[in-house]
Amino acid sequence: MTSIQAWVNENGVKSLESHGQSFPERNLTWEICAGVRTAIHSMLRRGDTILEFGSGYGTVDLGDDYIVHSVEDDKKWLHLDPRATYIHAPLVPIDKIPGHSHDQWYDRDAVSSSLPQKYDLILVDGPSGTIGRSGLLTIIDLLDPDVPWLVDDTVRTEESKIATDIGLALGMKEYRFWNFCILSRSPIPDSSIRRISIASEHVKQIERIHIALENSQFYNSRVEQ
Ligand SMILES: C[S@@+](CC[C@H](N)C(=O)[O-])C[C@H]1O[C@@H](n2cnc3c(N)ncnc32)[C@H](O)[C@@H]1O
Repeated sequence: MTSIQAWVNENGVKSLESHGQSFPERNLTWEICAGVRTAIHSMLRRGDTILEFGSGYGTVDLGDDYIVHSVEDDKKWLHLDPRATYIHAPLVPIDKIPGHSHDQWYDRDAVSSSLPQKYDLILVDGPSGTIGRSGLLTIIDLLDPDVPWLVDDTVRTEESKIATDIGLALGMKEYRFWNFCILSRSPIPDSSIRRISIASEHVKQIERIHIALENSQFYNSRVEQ
């Protein structure tokens, strides 16, 4: 049983309902993958604090082990976990960053006025890929460059460029895995890197199997027509 199911069984959906919201649908493709979870567990200790951009059910799972402050634009994804601190930051227009095409980012004042004093890791997983995340470069001065930054979805060209630009701007070393990247000023031990690589490669293989299955179903349906 996943932790969110356990939590829902125990607490019902009161947290959300008390905010006049219905429980949004869970969809694993939107959540941080097992590789990202392994990376976080390898770098943090239980009780450490995560500053996350982009909330979802993954936020609830992280709440089992960590204090989570989660920046989110969409009201639907606020208050899913009563243990987390949600920072509601609507998306606002921004000037495009050279080399990037995105024109929206979380409202700077809403983020800066609610940041926790101290955190141990930054997780970049929002807003959605269609909105884009290069606006993060407009607020790097607000964020701690001395904690690891985990940039998710760097299998996509845009997110990959964003990670590289942040790493260059803040003098961080890049550790690249299949679909995410860790930026850090302090070296990450080889043993952690090996563990994270194995988890990330495992996720990649499962993804490939899904794609192969989908393709074979597509071809079979074409043959049957
Ligand atoms: C990639 S999701 C963030 C996921 C989150 N970090 C997690 O691990 O669950 C990026 C944005 O999509 C929205 N979102 C989250 N979960 C979603 C879902 N299951 N379906 C559609 N949109 C979702 C939220 O607005 C969120 O900020």
